[in-house]
Amino acid sequence: MTTILSGIQPSGTLHLGNYFGAIQQHIAMQERDADLFYFIADYHALTTLRDAAALRDNVFDVAVSYLALGLDPEKVALFRQSDVPEVTEIAWLLATVTGMGLLERAHSYKDKVAQGIKPSIGLFTYPILMAADILAYDSDIVPVGKDQVQHVEMTQDMATHFNTAFKSEVFRRPEWEMAATTSAQKVPGLDGQKMSKSYGNTIPIFLEGKPLKKLVNRIVTDSRPPEEAKNPDELFLFDLLALFLDASELADWKSQVAAGGEGAPGYGHLKARVREGVEEHFAAARLRRTELIANPDYVESVLAAGAEKARLRARLVRDRALKACGLR
Ligand code: ADP
Ligand code: TRP
Repeated sequence: MTTILSGIQPSGTLHLGNYFGAIQQHIAMQERDADLFYFIADYHALTTLRDAAALRDNVFDVAVSYLALGLDPEKVALFRQSDVPEVTEIAWLLATVTGMGLLERAHSYKDKVAQGIKPSIGLFTYPILMAADILAYDSDIVPVGKDQVQHVEMTQDMATHFNTAFKSEVFRRPEWEMAATTSAQKVPGLDGQKMSKSYGNTIPIFLEGKPLKKLVNRIVTDSRPPEEAKNPDELFLFDLLALFLDASELADWKSQVAAGGEGAPGYGHLKARVREGVEEHFAAARLRRTELIANPDYVESVLAAGAEKARLRARLVRDRALKACGLR
């Protein structure tokens, strides 16, 4: 049976970019005939977050959000990365066969340093831990966003290096898979750049009411009046609307904006529709989330069961790896 694995960093409040770029695809995949493993990458989060209470809250929030958004724990093993210590053992073995040059080429490392994150050895070796995550479960398919493709390719290299060095077939070669929809490529944030917690331009998935309204009103527009005809394809507000509206409603708004004139919708109207879109789209999930937050023992039991299943796999792979290099 095919094994699908992915990891989610618990490094902040989940936003629309995370949902349309990753979470939606993760949840859809649970319908495939495959063994599914999704974990919350808490060890990875430590490369940028040093606040125990915030990390604990974020891990809980990711688990609750996935469950609320439709993850079925009968179909997917959902667990914490740090509950599977075999992964860090495998990471060490991979580190011994990984060249500095490979890690130095990582875009995500270079981007993070450019953003001002102080580079620790942990940040530098982040791709090794990620490779261990992937290889520990004999993963075949790794659904990821565009920014993570290189990390999966580095994983392929590490698996090959190890297998070649120890003349064995210890690690299975994984393939990445990107969501097919274009919205998955890049959801714009309030300022029109890629929505990202590092740019402070996010719309959290579960925000509602007044705080949501306030935030949506901050979406950057210009001072052209509603009557002025505009090219809708140049307005990133429409990229946000496209996430929520069906094709005919979207086309209707676009043609009104393109025509302009008396009664044409202004930016305020479009923003109000974005706000409604967010509230409607996540209404059922929001209710489930409230229930889950009131039931932390249930959430914990899901994570514990997931970890147990994951460890069974990871132990086999770890043992295979130790044996191949002479440690057993
Ligand atoms: P952030 O950029 O806020 O730090 P992460 O890097 O933690 O988000 O991203 C987690 C997942 O969400 C990744 O798979 C990433 O590709 C996806 N993702 C994040 N932001 C966006 C976005 N604006 N558009 C599409 N996908 C996104
Ligand atoms: N680096 C990924 C991200 O930032 C999270 C992650 C960690 C991951 N380990 C993984 C994703 C293994 C896929 C497979 O989004």
